[in-house]
Amino acid sequence: MSFLTDLICTKTGDSYDKTELLNLSDPGAPLFARYDLDAVRENLPKEALADREPTMWRYEEVLPVEDPRFKVSLGEGYTPLMQASSLGQHIGTPNLLIKDEGANPTGSFKARGLSAAISRALELGTKAIAIPSAGNAGGATAAYAARAGLRAHVFMPRDVPRANYFEAKVLGAQVELVDGLISDCGRVVAERKEAEGWFDVSTLKEPYRVEGKKTMGYELAEQLDWELPDVIIYPTGGGTGLIGMWKAFAEMGKLGWISEKRPRMVSVQASGCAPIVRAWEAGEEAATPWEGARTVASGLRVPGAVGDFLMLRAIRDSGGCALSVTDEELLQGVTEMAAYTGIFAAPEGGATLACLKKMVERGLVDADDQVVLFNTGTGLKYLEAFESGAQSG
Ligand SMILES: Cc1ncc(COP(=O)(O)O)c(C=O)c1O
Repeated sequence: MSFLTDLICTKTGDSYDKTELLNLSDPGAPLFARYDLDAVRENLPKEALADREPTMWRYEEVLPVEDPRFKVSLGEGYTPLMQASSLGQHIGTPNLLIKDEGANPTGSFKARGLSAAISRALELGTKAIAIPSAGNAGGATAAYAARAGLRAHVFMPRDVPRANYFEAKVLGAQVELVDGLISDCGRVVAERKEAEGWFDVSTLKEPYRVEGKKTMGYELAEQLDWELPDVIIYPTGGGTGLIGMWKAFAEMGKLGWISEKRPRMVSVQASGCAPIVRAWEAGEEAATPWEGARTVASGLRVPGAVGDFLMLRAIRDSGGCALSVTDEELLQGVTEMAAYTGIFAAPEGGATLACLKKMVERGLVDADDQVVLFNTGTGLKYLEAFESGAQSG
């Protein structure tokens, strides 16, 4: 059962009603779900998790669905955390692990966020949802909407990977291809949602996708016997994965499940679209939108993020950093990860390895650090990127 109490504005801390279907707070900031963590601590010893189903819903007390009948699940989460020691030795960080999110239903970590958001939207009475997507989120939306019996409207850039397009279409979503980027898709959704009666599930513009994504943080802790690693490298577009894990660590700290140790959170972006890296380097608290975004890692082709300040805050508070890698480097990262580990990563996953190599070169990581790379999706959805090589690098 969920211990959700209310929603909190991430700018002002004001409380909002959890039973309303809300997007942003009044000042236009993301809303975060808040739980009665004292009650969770009393009711759920972490040892009890061992007997639960191997999906993200094993953490249901800190997820938003109140009536389990509304849970829309395809078995997402509890993905493998794989040792990658020989790859680690090769690059100089032997204690290397890869969390393989490509093993999720619909082939990416986006399944987690959409499972949570669509479940809660269903519970609160939505009939139709709309989403702007760089690719994987669109496929996941279509799948979970199909399972929930909701209508889904997916807006994607015209040059989205073909797999994302066909997946969303075959799963029954109304797919519209837009000339432009995810930000242009977001504009179309914003313009039409009211007249069409759609609930907008743009990332961080509704409170619950981040709740699904935060389960990556819970899982990582559980899989590492409640001792977090030294460094986490995560490919960030909208940043919800990284922000979600940081939220999970704060919650688990309050639950008494983990010590005070936190990983250094590292955001990797593509050099053709690196607004967070630019803001990080300039010491800014928010990012300005990137002009002319271009990268084969389509999930990283996000010129502006509503949660930019939350991402930058997590990176700063954790003692982490933000780095960019070229398309050539990230595709090389995919090939190298594949050869050493047997994981066929998405270009975004390859970016994490390219980033780690840079961190080793620059002395930003120690040889005895435990490092976790997040492969956020399967390479099988990006065949065009591998066909065309690194031409846009
Ligand atoms: C495979 C993959 N990795 C990473 C990202 C970036 O995720 P986020 O927007 O949560 O930062 C995306 C987003 O589309 C993605 O599809």
